[in-house]
Parts: sequence; C-alpha cells; structure tokens
Amino acid sequence: MQPVYRWKTYSIVRETHDTVTIVFDTNGRNFSHIPGQYIHIFLELNNEVISRPYSLNSIEGERPAVTVKRVDGGAMSNYIVDNAEQIEYWDVGGCLGKFYEVADNKKPSTTILIGAGSGMSPIFSILKHELLNTQNKVLLIDANKTQQDVLYAEKLLALNNMFADRFVSYHVFSRQKTSGDIGGNVIYSRLTALHLKKIIKTVLGAEYTLSVGYICGPEGLVHLAEECLSNMGISNVKTELFFASKPASALPQEPTEVLFHFNDTTYLLDVEPGQSVLQAAIDDKIPVQYSCQSGTCGMCSARLLSGEVYMAANYALSSAEVADGLRLMCQSYPANNDVEMAAGYQ
Ligand code: FES
Repeated sequence: MQPVYRWKTYSIVRETHDTVTIVFDTNGRNFSHIPGQYIHIFLELNNEVISRPYSLNSIEGERPAVTVKRVDGGAMSNYIVDNAEQIEYWDVGGCLGKFYEVADNKKPSTTILIGAGSGMSPIFSILKHELLNTQNKVLLIDANKTQQDVLYAEKLLALNNMFADRFVSYHVFSRQKTSGDIGGNVIYSRLTALHLKKIIKTVLGAEYTLSVGYICGPEGLVHLAEECLSNMGISNVKTELFFASKPASALPQEPTEVLFHFNDTTYLLDVEPGQSVLQAAIDDKIPVQYSCQSGTCGMCSARLLSGEVYMAANYALSSAEVADGLRLMCQSYPANNDVEMAAGYQ
C-alpha cells in the first residue's frame, strides 16, 4: 500500500495516560469512509518508512480521527504517543475494512457493541453511527482495567445523556472497586459470559437473538464474547481482533527455530528476537507471498501446526480462522522453539 493523502493535524487529544487521538485536517479534501474502517499511517523512523493500520473512531461528516495506544515494542505507536504534537504531516493510505456492514432494510433494530481497550476505537465509530443515523436500541459493554483507561469517557457520557431512551452502556472494570461519575452502569469484575448474558437479556428483552453484534478487543475477550453470543443464539456477530499479542518483553530474548513448510520444501528458520516469521522467511529467500506487512492484506497467512506464536496485529483473519490455526506470518513472533508452520499450496 502507498500513501494517498498528506494530512495535517487538526487537534490532538490526550485520551488516557497511554493513548492519544489525532484528529486530521484533510486540507478541504473529501474523505469518505464507513464506520469501523481503518487507515494506514506512514512515518519515516530511523531512515525507514514504516506503515501501520489504525482504526478510525470518526464517522462520515466528522474530521477523520484515530486513537493510538502505546504498546510494548510498538515502534510507530510509541513514537506517535510520545511525539504526536511535533508531527507536521501525516501520510495516509486507505481506508479499508469491512467490520461494519452498511445498513440495509433487513438490519436488526438492536445493536450490541462490545469493546475493550483500544478495541473501542472502531466500536466508538459504529456507536456514533448507530445512534445518529438509525433508530436502533444500542447496548455498549466497554471493558477496561480501571476508569482511567476508558477511551472517549466524556463523549460517551454526553451520548448517554443525549440518547437516554435507546442507549444503554456498561463499563466493566477488572482492577477497580469504585469509580467516579462515568455515566451508564458499572461492574467491578473481570468480564465473564455470565455478565454478558445477564446484561443482554436484561437490556434487550426477548428479542435479543435478533440483534447484530460487533466485538473488538484482545483475543481472549473477543473469543469469550463471540462464544457467549453464539450460545445465546445471536448469530449476526462481527469481530475484529486487536493486538492478540503478549508484550514483546515476554517473548524469548534468544533466537528461536521455526520448522517451516513451504510448498514441497521444509526449512529451518532462525528467527531473531523481535523478528517476525515472515521476515525470517524472506531473509532465507523463501518465495513466500506477502504485501502489506502490517496485518491487513492476509497474503502472508500460514497454518500453525505446533508450538505457539503471538500475533501483534490482525486485521485480516476472522476469529474462526485464528481458532482454526491460521496466523499472519508478518505479525507472528515465536513464543518457543516448538513452532512449526506451513504455507503455500499444502
Ligand atoms: S503481509 Fe499483509 S497481512 Fe501479512
């Protein structure tokens, strides 16, 4: 992917201690997108241009905006969080993504939104769209460690007040026992399937099975919520996995070996700490397929046969594909020496 737009900063919002929202000035150029889509940001760091995908939290009619969260080992994210005010131009590509299906006349009249951490970014875009452009009843469940980690807290409170008749929100805090005024309902616990069931049945009543659900967050939360909604008979559910990774510091600090099958040949890759499986395969001149190197195109997908890898980002595979063993090599970092993967036509 190449940059298409050169935007300036319209405003910077320090959302929490480790997140920053950049609202872009598009120089008067039209920029069209649907809720839940993402853009690529290109930055030159250490004499190398790198790009990363970021979900838009804005909707049509607003200035485009993304929220960037500091992540362990995240070169671009950490640079932006530390230096957002000093960045003069933003080279941007996109937008991409099909997280949200454009409404049609079969669309359900109730919407369930489940987000956690920076997974709230596309969820916030869908929330605003549903409230401002449909008559749907909307249930939001936002899971965080503490109140200080909640994204868009003031805006959520304003939406709570503005749409009190059809917007119900729950904040779930896993590491906090009390909170200040945040609006909506508050649960002090790790989010469980039991919580989800109770909330959904209480808020949406008998017709909850006809809802559409959108879930975005870390792998554990997405799988828990998707399975829970499925068990409840809610079949119209879309998911997006965010940062299904362990922190880079938790990964092996020594080179690891990966047994890699590509077409008819088996290779033993030496993967350096901080190096992805894809990069190791490219270094070994294996003609693997890839394009974006940022977890969005899906061209580098491979099957994990054994061992464990951590995916740093995933905008291409569904949670069902991940559960089925597929991984994006460009985002995969071996967690041990037992990793065996296969790509190509086998
Ligand atoms: S190269 Fe595009 S997802 Fe890995």
